[in-house]
Amino acid sequence: MKVLMLNGSWNANGSSKSGLEIMAKTFADEGVETEIFDLGAKPVRDCIACGQCAVKKACVFTDDAVNEFVQKAYQSAGFVFASPVYYAHPSGRIMSFLDRVFFSAMCADRYAAFRHKPGASIVVARRAGTSAAFDCLNKYFGIAKMLVVGSTYWNEFHALTKDDVPQDPEGIQTLENLARHMAWLIKCLKAGRDAGIPLPDIKEETITNFVR
Ligand SMILES: Cc1cc2nc3c(=O)[nH]c(=O)nc-3n(C[C@H](O)[C@H](O)[C@H](O)COP(=O)(O)O)c2cc1C
Repeated sequence: MKVLMLNGSWNANGSSKSGLEIMAKTFADEGVETEIFDLGAKPVRDCIACGQCAVKKACVFTDDAVNEFVQKAYQSAGFVFASPVYYAHPSGRIMSFLDRVFFSAMCADRYAAFRHKPGASIVVARRAGTSAAFDCLNKYFGIAKMLVVGSTYWNEFHALTKDDVPQDPEGIQTLENLARHMAWLIKCLKAGRDAGIPLPDIKEETITNFVR
């Protein structure tokens, strides 16, 4: 029962990391293990739509951590994606990273690493652009058959640097309640599996692109 938490900032010691650490503490209180995965400051490639993931069942690029993250995802019961707000969207690096994570996971086995598992995104900004950035990150969950977890507000908090984080008590409360909701849902899903409740009978045969 591990939650895999992605820090989408270049900064392994910044505001996004601080938000994930607040959630990790609540998860620990709820008996749920966590791992924080820092994207770091090295370049992250964008998807080049080469289609090789359909052949290799993994991303063709091996000089960053995309394939490692997908392998960890198979072992994880839930996900939290954290990003700073950059010009009212998530960081470029987290979008490039997640495009390749999710496209290769779809090509490998129709999102088996993620499907029917809970996911939540959290975003941090000095002032504005949080809900637009939040919307972008939540898109990955809906298409991958995941369960989107909410809190007592949209999952945002405010800080220019991590030292500002304690000055946003409602933001902290939102993060803590989000972790409580996800921990509860993970336990409910396990109880359902243990009770023999089958997974939903998903249909995926129909695919249209509106022009043919
Ligand atoms: C390129 C860039 C763009 C930014 N755009 C916004 C923005 O649109 N709105 C905002 O309130 N803060 C913006 N910020 C501030 C960051 O969101 C804020 O400093 C955040 O706490 C950084 O998180 P981190 O320490 O996890 O990287 C921007 C910062 C940078 C470097």
